[in-house]
Amino acid sequence: MACTVAFTPLSAADHEAVARLLHRSLVDWYESRLRQGARFGESHEPFRIFPEVYEALDPGEAVTARDADTGDLLGVCFSHERETHVAVGIVSTAPEAAGRGIARAMMQAVLDRARELGKPARLVSSLLNLDSFSLYTRLGFVPGAIFQDLLLTVPAEGLTVPAPEGSERVRLARADEAALLADFEQSLQGIRREKDYAFFLANTAGSWRVLVSRDVAGAIDGVLVVSDHPSFTMIGPGVAANERSATALLWHALDLLRGRTVVFLVPCAAAGLVRTAYGWGARNVELHVAQSTAPVAAARGLVFPTFLPESG
Ligand SMILES: CC(C)(COP(=O)(O)OP(=O)(O)OC[C@H]1O[C@@H](n2cnc3c(N)ncnc32)[C@H](O)[C@@H]1OP(=O)(O)O)[C@@H](O)C(=O)NCCC(=O)NCCS
Repeated sequence: MACTVAFTPLSAADHEAVARLLHRSLVDWYESRLRQGARFGESHEPFRIFPEVYEALDPGEAVTARDADTGDLLGVCFSHERETHVAVGIVSTAPEAAGRGIARAMMQAVLDRARELGKPARLVSSLLNLDSFSLYTRLGFVPGAIFQDLLLTVPAEGLTVPAPEGSERVRLARADEAALLADFEQSLQGIRREKDYAFFLANTAGSWRVLVSRDVAGAIDGVLVVSDHPSFTMIGPGVAANERSATALLWHALDLLRGRTVVFLVPCAAAGLVRTAYGWGARNVELHVAQSTAPVAAARGLVFPTFLPESG
């Protein structure tokens, strides 16, 4: 079966096929390898948010693989070019087309474009899925920081623990602060993505809230995005100067999600933050690793990665 791989604008009509492919491939992979297919639910409907958000954010930057004869969708991955890098979102191949090099071909298209742009590519990959881990490392990605995926159900009345130190200096970001937040992230992490922050603040696709923290002198010391969309309850992306501001931001993010079950990723190296999250009731559900074709030297602070839009 021949197949064509290309950057493709996704029309509204494609969203259904993409959502079905994402759901089917995840359920199949996690059920056949780990008996955990049920994690992804029974319906593909919540997965519509992936093509909807990616197409609104970066139109035409998805890569699709299609059967050359029938045009059927066999694979999809999402790329998004930013000032300093190209980020890659979820990579997925239809189960019946697995092992034929489709994911590799889609990733190669993204890497070719990144090379043309002279930018590194970045992504976050599961440490439970060695097929995708090795797909990326074979293509030249280098694993970096490791993250714990933590699951927590926030009580309907909010967390019962008192607000942590510094939480009084956390507020919702203003609509005109995208550049400020991007500058802050760049100063710590060496990557810049103002477009993402502008997208979250405009809040026209998906459902986002952006929290910002300031230190006692009034300088920004953290930013954390919350998705409270019914299809995608997640905290991140975010970056904080230290564990204190990360903890204050996380507490506020959880408070915005009262009564909901949420996943968030925190660096394994942030031992104090992890311990605090356990104390709030969080449970480990997976591990992820940041991978990049050119890691940023001496990145500082703590990051909260996310899966949509994948932040790297
Ligand atoms: C992961 C996934 C995308 C792989 O898709 P695929 O089309 O079957 O992958 P490919 O056929 O392109 O093969 C990928 C490469 O990884 C290699 N590979 C796979 N498992 C490997 C392992 N355990 N060790 C070393 N290499 C491995 C393959 O040999 C191949 O490399 P090669 O082309 O150099 O031989 C697919 O299994 C999937 O959709 N899974 C569910 C969705 C998911 O979990 N996505 C990842 C989250 S971002």
